[in-house]
Amino acid sequence: MELIKLDTRKCGVEVSEALKREAIEANELLHAGKGAGNDFLGWITLPSDITPEHLAEVNACAARLREKAEVIICIGIGGSYLGAKAVIDAMTDSFELLHKEHKNPIVLFAGQNISEDYLGEMLAALKDYSIATIVASKSGTTTEPAIAFRIIKEEIERRYGKEDAKNRIVAVTDKARGALKTLATNEGYTTFVIPDNVGGRFSVLSPVGLLPLAAGGVDITALVEGARAVEQATRPGVAYEDNISAQYAAVRNALYRDGKKIEILGSYEPKLVNINEWWKQLYGESEGKDGKGIYPASVTLTADLHSMGQYIQDGERTLFETIISVAAPKYDVRVGADADNLDGLNYLAGKRLHEINKMAELGVQIAHVDGGVPNLRVEIPTIDERALGALIYFFEKACGISGYMLGVNPFNQPGVEDYKRNMFALLEKPGYEEQTKAIKARL
Ligand code: PA5
Repeated sequence: MELIKLDTRKCGVEVSEALKREAIEANELLHAGKGAGNDFLGWITLPSDITPEHLAEVNACAARLREKAEVIICIGIGGSYLGAKAVIDAMTDSFELLHKEHKNPIVLFAGQNISEDYLGEMLAALKDYSIATIVASKSGTTTEPAIAFRIIKEEIERRYGKEDAKNRIVAVTDKARGALKTLATNEGYTTFVIPDNVGGRFSVLSPVGLLPLAAGGVDITALVEGARAVEQATRPGVAYEDNISAQYAAVRNALYRDGKKIEILGSYEPKLVNINEWWKQLYGESEGKDGKGIYPASVTLTADLHSMGQYIQDGERTLFETIISVAAPKYDVRVGADADNLDGLNYLAGKRLHEINKMAELGVQIAHVDGGVPNLRVEIPTIDERALGALIYFFEKACGISGYMLGVNPFNQPGVEDYKRNMFALLEKPGYEEQTKAIKARL
């Protein structure tokens, strides 16, 4: 079964032979390791590089945490949390909290904000649950997760003592550098390494994503298998006509050059809402630089047809849309017949919701295309680990290709340093004395 089908028939733009060549050359450049940011290309072969032994080690650590804790708090920000959050949410029953029995621990996320109420509410809610934590930070110095980790670590040590805390805390970080590495070594925590050549937003298939996912009950072997299938299908030498990542990259660059500056990713499955968030980071941080880049936005449908639908249909014509379409649901829920038919829905009696959802999807597609919003469709067979792994790699590979076609280094993020400098100056971090004076004068 094909894990990803890309349908560009309604993209409304001609992809020239030159652009197709550009996409294929960008793919070859990625694999040759000769383009910009080439010290961060480890993600390209990550799926096929992952050994059964590595997966077993990750699963064993996850099993230890699952035994110890009803709730696992995953601490990280940006690429050190969005991938895990996206896949966990896609794979978890939407109403898990209402089930009396939980076959998996509840996975919560912290360190992706500095909200006092968020962490305060979390600590209060955790009172009656056993807990463990996975802290992920490649640099090991990012402020948001460092603050959350200090607080959660303190809570774990207070409850279980320093000795047992070691069995409840796992760090995922650089092999040698950073405050988190030093701390983990000094405290004797189990540690997993984020490879040097894998950047944050491309790290979901490293222990950054795999460990939280395994802890949450996700089949990481199937996830990696799905990714491996697309790694294989987009390898160098594959022709443009067969390379879905090259096609997606080429079409979005053709649209961008044609004035479409905003891409909206959406799906008709609310469980995929955090796939949108992961994708926004992947593309936003990779492409938005040097005054260039498609702005990545997102919607969840049909909900957002009743909020953003008006703008998409009728607002400024700088948009195009990419829809993740799920071919088959897991449940069978149908509309019943009603003798009075006061709501007028008997014409739908006996129909599955999925069929109605699909008609909404097709109707919206045609309406938006008619309204000047080109449409791309990425279809997965169903929401499972193999399909999600395939989707992740499909988007990662397309992002690398697309970034090169755009003429940027897709693997750096110089722009994210500016807010940090200001925040440190305002917090009077030692070493920032001059900046503190200057910024305070501007308040
Ligand atoms: O993609 C990236 O590199 C960033 O989004 C990082 O993942 C994010 O800033 C977190 O960094 P770190 O893992 O070093 O804490």
